[in-house]
Amino acid sequence: MGFSILSFLLAACFASSVAQSTPTCTLSPLGLGLDDTDQVLAAIARCGHGGHTVFRGGTYNITRKMTWDLVDSKVDLHGYLSFTPDIDYWLNTLNTYRVVFIQNQASWFVITGKDFEVDAHNTGGIQGNGQAWWEYFTTHAKADGDGRPIALTLFRARHGIIRNFAINEQPFWCNCIAESQSVIYDGMLCNASNANPAFAGTKCVNFGINTYRSDDISLLDWDITCGDDCLAIKGNSTKISARNVTCRGGNGIAFGSLGQYANLSDIVENVHLQDIQLLRLDPAVQPNMQNGVYFKSWDGSINGVPPTGGGGGTGFAKNITAMNVMLDRVNTPLHVYQTNGGHSLDLPSNLTFGGLHFINWSGTALGNKLVDIECSIAATCTGITFSGFNVSVPVGEAPQYICQNSEFRAMPQDNRDATDGQNNLKQMRFMMRRHTM
Ligand SMILES: *[C@@H]1O[C@H](CO)[C@@H](O)[C@H](O)[C@H]1NC(C)=O
Ligand SMILES: *[C@@H]1O[C@H](CO)[C@@H](O)[C@H](O)[C@H]1NC(C)=O
Ligand SMILES: *[C@@H]1O[C@H](CO)[C@@H](O)[C@H](O)[C@H]1NC(C)=O
Ligand SMILES: *[C@@H]1O[C@H](CO)[C@@H](O)[C@H](O)[C@H]1NC(C)=O
Ligand SMILES: *[C@@H]1O[C@H](CO)[C@@H](O)[C@H](O)[C@H]1NC(C)=O
Ligand SMILES: *[C@@H]1O[C@H](CO)[C@@H](O)[C@H](O)[C@H]1NC(C)=O
Ligand SMILES: *[C@@H]1O[C@H](CO)[C@@H](O)[C@H](O)[C@H]1NC(C)=O
Ligand SMILES: *[C@@H]1O[C@H](CO)[C@@H](O)[C@H](O)[C@H]1NC(C)=O
Ligand SMILES: *[C@@H]1O[C@H](CO)[C@@H](O)[C@H](O)[C@H]1NC(C)=O
Repeated sequence: MGFSILSFLLAACFASSVAQSTPTCTLSPLGLGLDDTDQVLAAIARCGHGGHTVFRGGTYNITRKMTWDLVDSKVDLHGYLSFTPDIDYWLNTLNTYRVVFIQNQASWFVITGKDFEVDAHNTGGIQGNGQAWWEYFTTHAKADGDGRPIALTLFRARHGIIRNFAINEQPFWCNCIAESQSVIYDGMLCNASNANPAFAGTKCVNFGINTYRSDDISLLDWDITCGDDCLAIKGNSTKISARNVTCRGGNGIAFGSLGQYANLSDIVENVHLQDIQLLRLDPAVQPNMQNGVYFKSWDGSINGVPPTGGGGGTGFAKNITAMNVMLDRVNTPLHVYQTNGGHSLDLPSNLTFGGLHFINWSGTALGNKLVDIECSIAATCTGITFSGFNVSVPVGEAPQYICQNSEFRAMPQDNRDATDGQNNLKQMRFMMRRHTM
């Protein structure tokens, strides 16, 4: 008896202190045909600073752009924020934010602030209603900066966690993190899978995440179905760690493109990728599985202006490790090129790639070009190492390794690999060749 009174008093005490210091806002979807945007924004306005916001399960109808400013705040998102598939509305510049500087990309939902956690409990996140977008863009020209919205943008976020979050049918970039620091994404599903037989085999052009001007970002337990880059590490991304990432379809994991802006230098440094799988899908769902990991810069000449054109930018990407990488029928496991957006007589890029380490790669390539490293003559790649790089080419084909303006070596493990005839990295030891572009 005494015990239960005590716990009642404690509970009452706790509840009142909670009520004062951490307001709680709880929402349920209003229901079909109604607009949830106002109640969502009101809850975040009331509980987004020092409070707790709980979205019960279900679908929330979001009809206009939204920013959540979260400070010392927790959001439990048990349901989906469903962004109306009104393409003309969203493509109107006034109806999205342009907080992501690179390529002037558009955002319909921005999270900013510090010391926050958004937990979607593997039961919620964003419904992007992308099928309509993918179909629309089979008959309309698309270009970077054209207003296709990023599904989830973190902008100027510090010490944030996004947990067990699903984004279904992203129209374009699934995630972007820009101008942010110390953010963990722990559990992210992005799924752009064509479900309309009439569009079978059409690439849904979208990305898992683009990182830009951000430091200390962790991507843990990601599962990305997309048609373009699974992860794209863009300018001024430092201390990026990705672990247990599955990429289904798409172009693979990209560093770049870098050097698009002639007036900016792009710095990419201290990146660690571990336990990565790249899996080819049924082509009706996503037809491409282009690269394992690839590095790309624009060339040294300026060809037009960003977002669509560019080039001439400087900078470097260094201290990058990709280990425990498993490939399923990718076209080119490893590719480096520095001629993005260029022409044959252009100036070579001054942007350097160096200190790249590829450890314990396995699986299969569809083509025989396992490694294609074509660095700029003005910016020789240095310090590229391979250890346990054992990717198979189709039966009966000889693996090909291309190495231009680069210096790399195979570590001891590959001397052993070389004896199985599958993988002749030994032949590439300490090679340094110079070619013109
Ligand atoms: C979303 O809200 C709009 C009103 O702003 C309404 O016209 C539309 O039918 C709603 N959509 C859904 C799926 O409920
Ligand atoms: C993605 O969505 C499609 C269609 O709804 C489904 O078949 C597939 O299993 C999903 N992929 C993942 C990884 O959840
Ligand atoms: C890897 O991530 C997937 C989700 O994408 C998760 O289901 C799985 O448990 C994770 N594996 C490990 C070893 O953590
Ligand atoms: C760099 O150039 C872009 C246009 O290409 C411009 O929008 C931006 O403001 C410039 N940035 C700086 C720092 O000069
Ligand atoms: C990257 O950071 C450097 C300085 O650290 C700066 O000069 C450069 O403009 C930045 N680049 C971008 C793309 O913001
Ligand atoms: C290289 O990057 C890793 C993180 O991926 C970091 O732990 C290490 O200190 C960096 N090495 C150097 C020399 O900066
Ligand atoms: C690359 O650097 C060299 C040496 O500093 C310089 O002469 C050249 O103009 C630069 N090229 C570009 C495209 O910026
Ligand atoms: C190599 O990577 C595979 C996954 O691709 C993993 O199962 C295996 O344990 C790794 N080997 C070592 C020695 O880490
Ligand atoms: C390389 O991979 C092949 C098949 O995937 C395997 O049979 C072989 O044992 C591997 N070699 C080494 C050294 O791991």
